[in-house]
Amino acid sequence: MQTIRVELAERSYTVTVGSGMLGAANAAITLPAGGAALIVSNETVAPLYLQALKDSFANTQVDTLILPDGEQFKTLEYWSRIIDKLVDIRATRDITLVTLGGGVIGDLGGFAAACYMRGIRFIQVPTSLLAQVDASVGGKTGFNHTQGKNLVGAFHQPVSVLIDIETLKTLPERDFSAGMAEVVKIAAVRDAEFLNWLESNNKAINAREPEVLISLIRRSIVNKAEVVARDERESGVRALLNFGHSFAHALESLTGYTKYLHGEAVAIGMLVATRLSEQRNLCAPGLSDRLGKLLRSFGLPVDMPDDALPDEILELMKLDKKVIAGSYRLILLNAAGQGFIDSNSNNKQIAAAIVASQPR
Ligand SMILES: NC(=O)c1ccc[n+]([C@@H]2O[C@H](COP(=O)([O-])OP(=O)(O)OC[C@H]3O[C@@H](n4cnc5c(N)ncnc54)[C@H](O)[C@@H]3O)[C@@H](O)[C@H]2O)c1
Repeated sequence: MQTIRVELAERSYTVTVGSGMLGAANAAITLPAGGAALIVSNETVAPLYLQALKDSFANTQVDTLILPDGEQFKTLEYWSRIIDKLVDIRATRDITLVTLGGGVIGDLGGFAAACYMRGIRFIQVPTSLLAQVDASVGGKTGFNHTQGKNLVGAFHQPVSVLIDIETLKTLPERDFSAGMAEVVKIAAVRDAEFLNWLESNNKAINAREPEVLISLIRRSIVNKAEVVARDERESGVRALLNFGHSFAHALESLTGYTKYLHGEAVAIGMLVATRLSEQRNLCAPGLSDRLGKLLRSFGLPVDMPDDALPDEILELMKLDKKVIAGSYRLILLNAAGQGFIDSNSNNKQIAAAIVASQPR
């Protein structure tokens, strides 16, 4: 078992990563004396892990809410269902909301916890690789609006995060791959050595070897925790974690959140951003080929669809939270492991990188 501390003064917390931790009482999900819990999960994950998680709480009043499964349900309506449930069970301020599932449940449940009675405790029990390496740590919560991804939300840190890698045994291959996109992202922007490690270990990762998975999750979270500790509310360096995301959010919005998984859209977006970096001579040529090869080795798509019109993508990017004072705020690369915030890319350059990322 490994623990990683996210240092945020009075909001600091511990992320615990290990194997076979659900089902037994665990310090990571200990509640205050007499505290009650509401577990929020979805129709896919609950039949697999809800009972084990419930068994982990001793002497606690535990209620549950099961939502439908999918990014298309990360909306105001399903956020309201969580709030309604809290009201129905007459939840008081000392309740702990526990999210059991992937990034969708974590984001939606976390935002309900941020809002109910102006903020209650919440614990993340992420079960998808993407949520384990990225979404469950850092306190970003929210839901999608038809006009834009994650347009509504708040920063609300969990009180702890419990990652049991056993849950990855049931994660579909496509979702596992989507999680690898966020792992490659964090390596690409700030950890060149980790990028080399991913290249050398890609077979063991795809075989989901437990020791390799623990190392991979740990290193991803250590990187993320360092960034979040320096810039909790994304006024600077945390923006690096948005590498590929402006393009990804536009693509997800353009395709109604149904064609691509979030991680798949991020993989495509990272390659567009890397091509833009190359075309603007900000990094040496060859980096997009290298990243493309690595992403493909994890089964990820890397091409912008040929019916995605650059003008449409640019229009959607303007609605994204990353546009400031009219200029696109993109994360580009100077080299492997060296991301930076760029505000100098113009429409023509971005459109050229999108076109260069479409299949010929
Ligand atoms: N808050 C953040 O910092 C942050 C960071 C990155 C992504 N996100 C958000 O996370 C979401 C994507 O997360 P995701 O990829 O986990 O999507 P998801 O929550 O939809 O999970 C993917 C699929 O895997 C299933 N699943 C999860 N765990 C499983 C398991 N152990 N066994 C079997 N099936 C399992 C889910 O039910 C779902 O069908 C997006 O909404 C994205 O915006 C948030």
